[in-house]
Amino acid sequence: MNRKSFLRAVGGTALFMGIPNIFSQSTSEINDLIMQSDSDLNTKAQGTLTEHKVAPLKKTRVGIIGLGNRGETIIQMFDWLIKNDKAEIIALSDLREAKVLKNNDYLKTIQKKEAQLYFGNETEWQKMVKRDDIDLIVICTPWENHAEMSIMAMENGKHVACEVPIAYKLEDCWKLIEVAERTKMHCMMMENCNYDNEELWILNMINEGVFGELNHAEGAYIHDLRGLLLDETYYENQWRLKHHQNRNGNFYTTHGLGPISAYMGIGRGDNYDTLYSLSSREYNLSEAARNKGLNMTIKCGDMNTTLIKTKMGRTIKLQYDVHTGRPYNRLNILTGSKAVHEGYPSRLYIEADKLQSWGHEFLEEKEYKIYREKYDHPLWNKLKKQISENEVGHGGMDFVMIYRLIECLNQGLPLDINVYDSVMWSAITPLSELSVAKESVIKIPDFTGDTWQKVRKSEFLRNV
Ligand SMILES: NC(=O)c1ccc[n+]([C@@H]2O[C@H](COP(=O)([O-])OP(=O)(O)OC[C@H]3O[C@@H](n4cnc5c(N)ncnc54)[C@H](O)[C@@H]3O)[C@@H](O)[C@H]2O)c1
Repeated sequence: MNRKSFLRAVGGTALFMGIPNIFSQSTSEINDLIMQSDSDLNTKAQGTLTEHKVAPLKKTRVGIIGLGNRGETIIQMFDWLIKNDKAEIIALSDLREAKVLKNNDYLKTIQKKEAQLYFGNETEWQKMVKRDDIDLIVICTPWENHAEMSIMAMENGKHVACEVPIAYKLEDCWKLIEVAERTKMHCMMMENCNYDNEELWILNMINEGVFGELNHAEGAYIHDLRGLLLDETYYENQWRLKHHQNRNGNFYTTHGLGPISAYMGIGRGDNYDTLYSLSSREYNLSEAARNKGLNMTIKCGDMNTTLIKTKMGRTIKLQYDVHTGRPYNRLNILTGSKAVHEGYPSRLYIEADKLQSWGHEFLEEKEYKIYREKYDHPLWNKLKKQISENEVGHGGMDFVMIYRLIECLNQGLPLDINVYDSVMWSAITPLSELSVAKESVIKIPDFTGDTWQKVRKSEFLRNV
């Protein structure tokens, strides 16, 4: 099929099948991208925010938009911060009054000052981001709202902490960078897996030289979501199912790619270069729907596998499967010249070590524990007590993430995850869709304004 007939096929389907607006835009964006040459995608970032600092916000004033499953957890992560005068929640917003009231009832148990409440329609949140007594907008809404809400918050002088992915269209990725650079607001995607105990331990070992030279990593989001996707009330208006009905690629790249990018110093000495993405056929989610008496077409394949090559010649394998019963897994595989890690369950191989040499086996439990204790990340160690009191957020990583975000704002430090990281990790989604549609290798744009070549230590280890 040549380019013209391909465009007719893809574009024609979107045009005549009456696909809802947000999704047909995505399809037409793929068409637009196919029309562009690779070099056109590489020109729009200045790279001025790589280690961006703003004046310390001694007590960070927060507004939260989206109080569904995620928003309800995130608000609980503020408990210790509010009680210790580090943060204050000024306002809450959701479409649904009931969700706002429920979360406000919880907030009243941890904060004396009453929050302002915004609910009832799609645009009420805009009143919140226009207030002049808020420093940070936290966004926990469906994916289709993330870029618009982040951009409007920054345009109104607010820092942004947005749920994953921060964008799923390339156009929005570039807009986020342009607005952040122009307004000089922080724009962080809240990738909580970067703050998990295991991932921080590996990062610490890398920084201490345990892994030697890194050459390959594998990450994933493998999580059976069939029940939740098909549930009529779990996700508001079943927003997440609609993406699977209308798009095909890796929609949830960042839980795997965030930690891997921190390991490899993506944007800090290395950068993504090309990717190739394949989706398997779809069977499982539509079968689960049929078993519920529902007849629906699902466009997203059951397993998406995306291969990325970096500028330094390293490789990354990234997988996405929320349609099958495969048990939860983020893989967390990393191979270096001196050590190898595989997650689920966590295993470590150390090469040419006095404990084990050329043994072709992972360390025994006793030896593994020695490494675990020796290289436990100082940030996790420092927060052990608070973590044990906040295990509700994925075993502690949600608390560590929110703690660090507020600590950096309180002290005027650069945020761990900057706008370039947020965009780079998210942009793999539309690029995977493009690769699946084109059946081709795709050049990955440089979102850092060419600043990636400057080798910097990971922000995660600094100032802890
Ligand atoms: N990092 C993680 O571990 C993690 C875990 C779960 C979800 N998430 C992310 O969190 C986000 C939300 O997911 P969820 O499971 O909570 O979905 P959800 O449907 O339970 O919640 C989304 C909420 O946003 C509200 N909303 C939608 N449009 C709005 C608008 N215009 N104004 C105000 N509120 C609006 C909805 O009413 C709903 O309450 C997604 O981006 C998801 O990817 C991240």
